[in-house]
Formats: sequence, structure tokens, C-alpha cells
Amino acid sequence: MMLADKVAVIYGAGGGIGSAVARAFAAEGAKLFLTGRRRAPVEAVAQDIVAAGGSAEAAEVDALDETAVDKHLQSVIGKAGRVDISFNAVGIPDLKILGVPLVELDVEQFSLPITGYVTSYFLTARLAARRMIANKSGVIMTVTSLLSRMGAPIVGGYGPAQAAKEALTRNLSAELAPHGIRVVGLRPQAMPETATIQRAFEPRAKASGMTWEQWQQMLASRTHGRRLMTLDEMANVAVFMASDKASGMTGTTVNLTMGSLDD
Ligand SMILES: NC(=O)c1ccc[n+]([C@@H]2O[C@H](COP(=O)([O-])OP(=O)(O)OC[C@H]3O[C@@H](n4cnc5c(N)ncnc54)[C@H](OP(=O)(O)O)[C@@H]3O)[C@@H](O)[C@H]2O)c1
Repeated sequence: MMLADKVAVIYGAGGGIGSAVARAFAAEGAKLFLTGRRRAPVEAVAQDIVAAGGSAEAAEVDALDETAVDKHLQSVIGKAGRVDISFNAVGIPDLKILGVPLVELDVEQFSLPITGYVTSYFLTARLAARRMIANKSGVIMTVTSLLSRMGAPIVGGYGPAQAAKEALTRNLSAELAPHGIRVVGLRPQAMPETATIQRAFEPRAKASGMTWEQWQQMLASRTHGRRLMTLDEMANVAVFMASDKASGMTGTTVNLTMGSLDD
């Protein structure tokens, strides 16, 4: 098993990406501490994992609340002795940030994804790193999107937020790699299985006069394989990147856009 006995904390573990990564980590032997803003969806994922023979505990943790993140990590250290993997899969509801042209967007709505996404990644990474430094090992991970590097209309502050997270991945790595800690992001193409992606893209499809199905076909046509990624495919890469097999990877965001975005 690629993650045997690794202790992993996942933020936003009740979401589409967080829950898929949690299941994949558990299947590879990781001991999971799953967190989210609301406990119920995280608890459901933890119960599934335990029922399948894995190890998972759920907790309600707001990944923007420094005290809550710190207290939870301390409890993980108390129970498992260390933290090996920190994965931030937090997603801010797109309805709050997408759909308004930049010229009409107010500052508060523009800033929401920038402060939310970047601050939560910073807090969870920093607080995990403080524990990982003592062990001289660990992996800090997050997820971004191709809008970090591609212009698109009516996405407000979302693209700048994703670009900032990728910059933070590089800078965290520059400081933490000498302590044995790797920092790696994943940049998946849209995965239509997730509820988020439909909510995020429907306003843009509508604005372009397309149905949701036509929009998916248009996105798929931009990939080299003419198809979109599955959650399993993304989670498999997450497992590899979190594992010691990826010991040569740090300070980078893995391009999972299937050819939509050149390196
Ligand atoms: N889905 C895709 O195909 C795709 C592709 C590329 C990139 N991404 C990006 O990947 C990220 C996650 O996407 P997703 O599809 O997994 O989104 P999702 O299903 O909406 O999940 C996001 C999770 O984050 C949690 N969350 C939000 N604010 C939080 C906070 N302050 N503290 C703790 N948890 C919090 C949510 O919990 P609550 O529901 O309790 O608020 C939810 O469980 C987003 O940035 C998204 O843009 C997604």
C-alpha cells in the first residue's frame, strides 16, 4: 500500500474532491482525520471509509479559523503522534463569487475567493508545517484549477485566488523543503461528476447560449483525449503525489488538465 500508516488530515473532506481523495488515501492504508465546515458530510465520508475497512475520524473544523485548525491538529498529534499529509480541498461556493463581469463586481465579492482560498491554504499549511518540521518529513497539498493560468470571463477573483495558491505552493516549498517537507498542488480539469462544476459552469454556459451538455462537450474538446477527467483519475494522482514514490516532487502544481493547458 502506497500510504501505509501515513497520518493524513484533509480539509473540505465532505466535498467532491476532498471525499474522493479521502477514499483513495484510505484504500492505500492512510489513517485519516477528515474535517469540514459542516460535520455531517464529513461524518458520512468517514463512516463509508470505516465500513470499507479503513481508518477515518471526522471533525468539524472551519479551515479559516486558526484556533480551530490548530486545536484539531494538536488532537491529531495526541491520537496518532504525528501528521504526515495535509491536504486542503476547501472550496468556496461558486454562486458567491462567479457570474458577475469584473466592471460590475464589488470589492467584497472580488476579494472573497482571494482571501478565503489563500488564507485557508496558508493557515492549514503553516500549522501542519510547524508539526512536520519536528519530524523532518511531511507533504502539504492542495488543489487549484486551470483558471490559475487561463483567462476566462465572469469568474471574478477566482482566477487570481488560484494563481496565488500556486505561488504559495512554490514559496512554501522553497522554505520547507530544506526541512524534508514537500509541497505539491494538483490542477485538475473540470470533473463533471462533482456538483460544484455544474454550479460553476452553468452561468457561463447560459451566458454563452449553450446547454450544460454542450458546455461539457466544448470543455472536453479542448483536451487531447477529447474527454474530461474522472474523480478517480485525479485521486490516483493525489495518492502518488502524497506517497514517498513522489519524493522528487516539490514546489510545483501537477498539470491534470489533460492537454487543455500547456506547461
Ligand atoms: N470539482 C472540480 O471538477 C474541480 C476542478 C478543478 C478545481 N476545483 C477546485 O477544487 C476545490 C474543491 O472543489 P470541490 O468540487 O471538491 O468543491 P465542493 O464539493 O464544494 O467541496 C468544497 C468543500 O469545502 C468545504 N469548505 C468550504 N469552506 C470551508 C471552510 N472555511 N472550512 C472547512 N471546509 C470548508 C465545504 O464544506 P461545506 O459544504 O460544509 O461548506 C465543502 O465540503 C475548489 O477550489 C474548486 O474550485 C474543482
